[in-house]
Amino acid sequence: MTGRTGCGEAREALMGAELKFAGWVYRRRDHGGLIFADLRDRSGIVQVVFSPDVSAFAHALAHDLRAEYVIEVKGTLRKRPEGTENPSIPTGAVELYALELVVLNASAPLPFGLEEGDEATEALRLRYRYLDLRRPVMQKNLLARHRAVKAVRDYLDSNGFIEIETPMLTKSTPEGARDYLVPSRVNPGYFFALPQSPQLFKQILMVSGYERYFQIARCFRDEDLRADRQPEFTQVDLETSFLGADEIMRLTEGMLQAAFHAVLGIDIKPPFMRLSYREAMERFGSDKPDLRFGMELADMEGPARKGTFKVFLDALGSGGRVMAVNGKGMAGLSRKEVDTLTEEVRTFGAKGLAWIKLKGNGFDSPIAKFFPEEALKEMAALLDAREGDMMLFVADSEEKVVHNTLGRLRLELGKRLGLIQEGWKFLWVTDYPLLEWDGEEGRFRAVHHPFTSPVDEDVERILAGGLADRKLLGSLKAKAYDVVLNGYEIGGGSIRIHRQDIQSRMFQILGISSEDAQKKFGFLLDALQFGAPPHGGLALGLDRLVMLLCGAESIRDVIAFPKTAKAVDLMSGAPSGVELKQLRELHIKLDTPAPEA
Ligand code: AMO
Ligand code: AMP
Repeated sequence: MTGRTGCGEAREALMGAELKFAGWVYRRRDHGGLIFADLRDRSGIVQVVFSPDVSAFAHALAHDLRAEYVIEVKGTLRKRPEGTENPSIPTGAVELYALELVVLNASAPLPFGLEEGDEATEALRLRYRYLDLRRPVMQKNLLARHRAVKAVRDYLDSNGFIEIETPMLTKSTPEGARDYLVPSRVNPGYFFALPQSPQLFKQILMVSGYERYFQIARCFRDEDLRADRQPEFTQVDLETSFLGADEIMRLTEGMLQAAFHAVLGIDIKPPFMRLSYREAMERFGSDKPDLRFGMELADMEGPARKGTFKVFLDALGSGGRVMAVNGKGMAGLSRKEVDTLTEEVRTFGAKGLAWIKLKGNGFDSPIAKFFPEEALKEMAALLDAREGDMMLFVADSEEKVVHNTLGRLRLELGKRLGLIQEGWKFLWVTDYPLLEWDGEEGRFRAVHHPFTSPVDEDVERILAGGLADRKLLGSLKAKAYDVVLNGYEIGGGSIRIHRQDIQSRMFQILGISSEDAQKKFGFLLDALQFGAPPHGGLALGLDRLVMLLCGAESIRDVIAFPKTAKAVDLMSGAPSGVELKQLRELHIKLDTPAPEA
């Protein structure tokens, strides 16, 4: 007999052979005479039959098998009797008649069932992650992740990229989140930061002449978590010298094509559609629009100005906007349902939601009386709204509020109305603004990051222009691009500033004093003096990409050991208190009572 066969490899071609399998008991059915056990390993499931006529000894032992016992079975593969085949699994035509059974290990009763359809809270799943990871769907997800990474590595390798590791213990590289800090024992009072991304190191590798770098890079960001965010996550991080944005986008498309081919066996077709940031916001109210359905936003300024509805006129009068979407077939909503929707829209940031229903060729709405018939018809035409539809309006003095609210409403209604089509809708969003005003801090922030280059036309304006000119600064454009898939931002990048004078100016614009810039980014500014080539790159969010490839609900389902929304690992219990001795060695005193180690 040869070695072990994978459970999932049992096929009719092997019929009659004496085979050995090992794995976990998935299900067991004791029919008195015959005992059936579904044996599971990484490759799949095979049905094992214990018959007293084949081996009385194995049959007797099999009585004591329980879920998740680890066993080894030798036996003969036979065709299943007619009518007992299971077409839903690849091994469903055959079964193994057991000659020998060895119990390799027992298992305590499980805290939750592992079969499809067995329910367990996520907290329980994460606490017993090793069991959760036994479930075939989780094994499939992690295998898909492996395949995606392998395809990406091979693709980048064959395009001249080399993989280089950058440090985990480093100085903070700001990507807009808080840092995870690590105290340095040998340098009392000093801290490392875990990298939010390898941004500065990869730029410096370009200064060093490596031309094409990549890394499957772990990144750490102490931010508020959501279903598509983790405190540590993985980027496919890359950087190139001498290439423009178009070439980097083309390489990225090829890389995604390779990953889709490897994981799903499908051919996606580059080039991806492109939208400017402005157009994405105007049409979809989002810079990561889901293009699997229409329901585009429409500008309602024209008809709004023909009426006397104060909410609309006030918004326009203060430089704001009035926009709307068409709720297809929603004219039947009750007053109460409309009120609930209005409440929801308020949580998205708007002050209210105005609506006009199209019913029996008339307009039904508390605000219809403020508009001449002609304006109402114009609204309907702009939204392509027909009888049975409901036009939904948001007005605000802040354009951003109108975009965001309608963008979220569009997405929500798209889901509820079942408008979202199956498929893969890739999109590049380009022409981002370079800077955005942060009202709270009273200064500009970089929309992408402070190392992103302005477009060529704006470089001279920046070097010449006054720092106080908010209008000028707010109008600058960045050489940045994000890649979006089905409404998720799966990656982003930019062409970088490679001239020291421009980078210094940028820090100034961001309100970073030259002293501070030297302290924080001195090494970058120094490096840029010594023949830095033009360079740029991008990072893909690997977890988000694999989540979409797997059709998973959350990136937690494609990460082996993820953290909860409270940034806790429920299995190991991290983070945890530590021994006082450790704190003393690190020269750290707590101002809260020390939690138990
Ligand atoms: P950015 O911050 O846009 O760019 O990150 C790149 C991609 O990483 C993913 N991502 C995350 N995934 C899971 N959990 C998180 N908390 C998280 N944060 C980000 C997203 C995002 O598109 N250094 C730049 C890249 C560059 O300019 O080359 C950067 O990190 O999918
Ligand atoms: P009001 O004049 O506040 O009673 O509002 C009249 C209607 O306009 C109600 O249906 C409100 O929900 C709606 N409304 C109020 N503020 C806004 C707004 N900013 N945008 C759109 N509709 C609004």
